[in-house]
Amino acid sequence: MRPKVLVTRKIFDGALNLLSKHFDVESNQRDLPVTPTQLVKRLQGKSGAVTPLACEFNERVLAQCQDLKIICNVAVGFDNIDVKAATRRGIMVTNTPGVLDDTTADFTWCLLLATARRLLEADKFLRTGKWKGWSLMNFLGHDVYRKTLGIVGLGRIGKGVAKRAKGFDMRVIYTDVQRADEATEREYGVMYVDKRTLLRESDFVSLHVPLLPETTHYISHGEFALMKKTATLINASRGPIVDEKALVKALKEGKIAGAGLDVYEKEPKCERALIGMKNVVLAPHIASASIDTRQKMAIIAAQNCIAGLTGQRPPNLLNPEVLGR
Ligand code: DGY
Repeated sequence: MRPKVLVTRKIFDGALNLLSKHFDVESNQRDLPVTPTQLVKRLQGKSGAVTPLACEFNERVLAQCQDLKIICNVAVGFDNIDVKAATRRGIMVTNTPGVLDDTTADFTWCLLLATARRLLEADKFLRTGKWKGWSLMNFLGHDVYRKTLGIVGLGRIGKGVAKRAKGFDMRVIYTDVQRADEATEREYGVMYVDKRTLLRESDFVSLHVPLLPETTHYISHGEFALMKKTATLINASRGPIVDEKALVKALKEGKIAGAGLDVYEKEPKCERALIGMKNVVLAPHIASASIDTRQKMAIIAAQNCIAGLTGQRPPNLLNPEVLGR
């Protein structure tokens, strides 16, 4: 009998076909949202799950899935999975690192430029027939070139963002738990500073850290108080890294000039007040959403699943301690 695998939401045919060569696959090609109860029900008798971020594998779900051997996230982040609980139960967990860094760095810049130059506001203005002719005063935004970009987290995506800043002649400062070596700093043209200095000196603050207890609400009231009134916050990492209520307050009180967001504290919801704000660009968690990248992510997740259920070590195993138990 072939192992059974659940694909919790819609994925590309290429990945589905790959999985179907090895497993009996149940998939959700209509991409309907799945409640925790439905997830548990569908996972009965399944050895593997291939899943995007939209499904949460918490302790309660895992406790009811006795047959599950591997969860393959179609994402690099894995805060939707309780990895510790999975490890306790001997369930392998994998992700898709490496393939989405440049796509996410591109999109970070997309948010930054769109926010600084008020692109979405201007687009709406034209589409709604409000443009009555060129005006010196129309949609005055903030320059990007030669400004200071502050990168929080100089990992793969942070580095990609820094690399792109060179074309804009920017001064790039960064902060991280660990300072990069001299050669890396030279290669990316970045200077290490502490968090306070970064917040005080940056015209654009861009977040690229994983969601951890230490990074939850990394940006909150105190941080907004340190930022320039003309500064823009960009977040294409994880929503809870920014205290969304504090962000709304900071924007309302003019503590910062704007924000470009791809992620939110309680996705798919976002603070209602943000919706009405003109100086905010809001995207629905799409930073990695290029056709090529999303296809690669799905294939990698499928390959991880195949390896894990055919007795090999999955290439992107996050909890190797479960092996050999
Ligand atoms: C990830 O991979 O973690 C992104 O947030 C979704 O692509």
